[in-house]
Amino acid sequence: MGSRPYALDDHETMRLLAGLRAAAEPTRLRLLALCAAGELTVGELAQVLGQSQPRVSRHLKLLCDAGLLERFPEGSFVFHRLADTGPNAALAERLDALIPRGDSTFRLDRNRLVAIQRAREQTAAAYFRDNAARWDELRSLYVDEAEVEEALLALLPLNSADDLLDIGTGTGRMLELFGPRVARAIGIDQSREMLAIARSRLERARLANCRVRRTDMYNLPWPGPSFDAVTIHRVLHFAEDPSRAIAEAARVLRPGGRLVVVDFAPHALEALRTEHAHRRLGFADEEVSGWCRDAGLQVHPTRHLPGSRLTISIWQAARPAEHGSGKRRPAQATGEHDHPQVSQEVGV
Ligand SMILES: C[S@@+](CC[C@H](N)C(=O)[O-])C[C@H]1O[C@@H](n2cnc3c(N)ncnc32)[C@H](O)[C@@H]1O
Repeated sequence: MGSRPYALDDHETMRLLAGLRAAAEPTRLRLLALCAAGELTVGELAQVLGQSQPRVSRHLKLLCDAGLLERFPEGSFVFHRLADTGPNAALAERLDALIPRGDSTFRLDRNRLVAIQRAREQTAAAYFRDNAARWDELRSLYVDEAEVEEALLALLPLNSADDLLDIGTGTGRMLELFGPRVARAIGIDQSREMLAIARSRLERARLANCRVRRTDMYNLPWPGPSFDAVTIHRVLHFAEDPSRAIAEAARVLRPGGRLVVVDFAPHALEALRTEHAHRRLGFADEEVSGWCRDAGLQVHPTRHLPGSRLTISIWQAARPAEHGSGKRRPAQATGEHDHPQVSQEVGV
């Protein structure tokens, strides 16, 4: 009696096997566990594992090829994290959940990782310290930031199926604020220093659904509508071309999606130009509303929060919902189609 050989040629089965094979090696399992805890460079991972960079790079490549990790370059750095989109993302998550954290090797890796994260935070803290006096001086001129954030939470009632983009995210405060409420939040900024701080803060807050990427607000790397909400918080007064930044934000909004712009109302504090590099001394309501309309958005009423010397304005606009559909987007979390690897587009 001859038995028929089983042919495992189904596409999904092959993918599963490739994922399992990639993970079935001690160093790679350690790498999976580490990359589930944050976004890490090859150098940092090599430091934790006590192995050479070329060796670690080879292991990382196998894990990326199998769809268990994602990599994204940022200038001269390449970061790695557990895949959260793509066909083997669910497998990566399950494997991570199964890793025995009590095992002494995983525990040691984790402790070394925490030491690296602390060192990064100290660098970030030094950056803050160097600029703190100037920032405090500026903050004293306008309303308490907590009040602005309270207004934003009320104006932008996001839920756990929504995807958020924060343009000019800086230290990632908007991601910290909205991250716990949404499916996914991405912050973009052109400053590597700011993003280093944002990364540390998001890791500390354990906001695994939030990411930051180095990219330019005039050239966002999404080919079309990909977000339910976009925030631009205290960025436009630095912008060379604010209307273009708004048009670019509108381009990536899904039907029914909301844009919120926070900036100063017109003021006469010339010192902000000379001492704080502001290009624009605030914006009139109609100026920002006009740019939103030009970008095809419906404008909602603007809110004002007066402070001691400066008034904060909050502009709101929305992309019209598609006719006949009360739904903005598929209920499922965004897939790779909507969020291509930003790294491919990042100009450095
Ligand atoms: C004052 S910070 C505001 C940061 C953050 N939105 C907040 O309110 O805490 C302005 C940010 O805009 C970023 N930025 C300025 N021009 C940019 C551009 N063309 N593309 C991306 N980010 C930009 C700066 O790097 C900076 O981090």
